[in-house]
Amino acid sequence: MARKDLFVGRGKKMGGAFTAAPALALVLLVALSVAATANVGDSCSTAVDCGGGQWCFDCQPEFAGSSCVRSAATNPFQLTNNSLPFNKYAYLTTHNSFAIVGEPSHTGVPRITFDNQEDTVTDQLNNGVRALMLDTYDFKGDVWLCHSNGGKCNDFTAFVSELDVAISLVMTDRVSEPNEPALDTFKEIEAFLGANPSEIVTLILEDYVHAPNGLTNVFKASGLMKYWFPVSKMPQKGKDWPLVSDMVASNQRLLVFTSIRSKQATEGIAYQWNYMVENNCETSHPLLSIYFFCRSTFLLHARDSQILLITDGDDGMDAGKCSNRAESAPLNDKTKSLVLVNYFPSVPVKVTACLQHSKSLTDMVNTCYGAAGNRWANLLAVDYYKRSDGGGAFQATDLLNGRLLCGCQDVKACSVRRETGHTCFLPPCASVDLDMMLCES
Ligand SMILES: *[C@@H]1O[C@H](CO)[C@@H](O)[C@H](O)[C@H]1NC(C)=O
Repeated sequence: MARKDLFVGRGKKMGGAFTAAPALALVLLVALSVAATANVGDSCSTAVDCGGGQWCFDCQPEFAGSSCVRSAATNPFQLTNNSLPFNKYAYLTTHNSFAIVGEPSHTGVPRITFDNQEDTVTDQLNNGVRALMLDTYDFKGDVWLCHSNGGKCNDFTAFVSELDVAISLVMTDRVSEPNEPALDTFKEIEAFLGANPSEIVTLILEDYVHAPNGLTNVFKASGLMKYWFPVSKMPQKGKDWPLVSDMVASNQRLLVFTSIRSKQATEGIAYQWNYMVENNCETSHPLLSIYFFCRSTFLLHARDSQILLITDGDDGMDAGKCSNRAESAPLNDKTKSLVLVNYFPSVPVKVTACLQHSKSLTDMVNTCYGAAGNRWANLLAVDYYKRSDGGGAFQATDLLNGRLLCGCQDVKACSVRRETGHTCFLPPCASVDLDMMLCES
């Protein structure tokens, strides 16, 4: 790549002209400026070739080669301000945040199930993920994060049928069961909140813990209670949430939602669907969900086995449809002031996540806006959040924040708009291109 050649060439020249230390400083400077100028979409061989907040990733190995793609979210609180209600911002959300590739088994029994993410919860938070979806279970006298079904966590798995295993072997790099004590993950979240006093983290628990105060005990043991945002402050009847700045000032920066209704009364943990609506983007059958993900047509190829399938979507998973999940009120029920949009198949498919996070994700975000009664999603949940051919889930979140905060296609335009007094040029909801979308006088 030309940029890399330039860097090497200059480095050598400087090395000859100056003593070692200044030469090194200059090389570092050049390296920094090179990094700063690398754009999303530039070809690369490693992340070093890319700019800050990017990594080097190959979306479609046999077609394009690796390129710099985004790996970090824009922080809307820093870019604009945090003086609006919590529900006026959008937050990148990871589905099964704990189901991490290569995570060692904590049970001593090899794990056999799917992974949904590829880096640690700490890395996810540092990259700007602000909401985590976790499945909590009673297990071994404690609370664990598991992949399972039937509400029971197992030493290896209850979730995986033979068909699922076969699919996962083809579609993912490895199979593993991401069981781990919830305490470990909660401690990571506690460390992040401690180190980042202006940030708010939301936990959405698919909750199978029935031990009395089981969850509460783990929250206490992890040190997270000091950040707890109380149910009593959560808005009823679709009112706005408190201001982010007030939540930060009061240090109530952890929102926790459970899928068990009774826990709101017994443990003070908010029942998720009292406060948010949520779409249903999954098909019930894993095989169908692979073939007919929320997109009418897509290209599916398995990296190693080089299977190439081109399919047409089924009626239930059309790109143009966004309907509520069974537990949720209809998406356009405005008595719930948070909107959660899920965009992942029942079985995480690593090789297609990239394509799904490209154009079709933006389409779904726009579709769900209409379905939610012209409300932009506050929470956008994906698998493999860093996989895309450019902006992916990060760009989709920028789109949401742009729309929510200033009516622009990209939150990065909000500050420009404010400084110049220009109004936004709003093309039809389509792919987002910062150059195209910026401001006109
Ligand atoms: C904060 O940002 C929003 C969105 O850009 C803007 O509407 C509002 O005026 C800003 N508030 C302050 C106090 O700057």
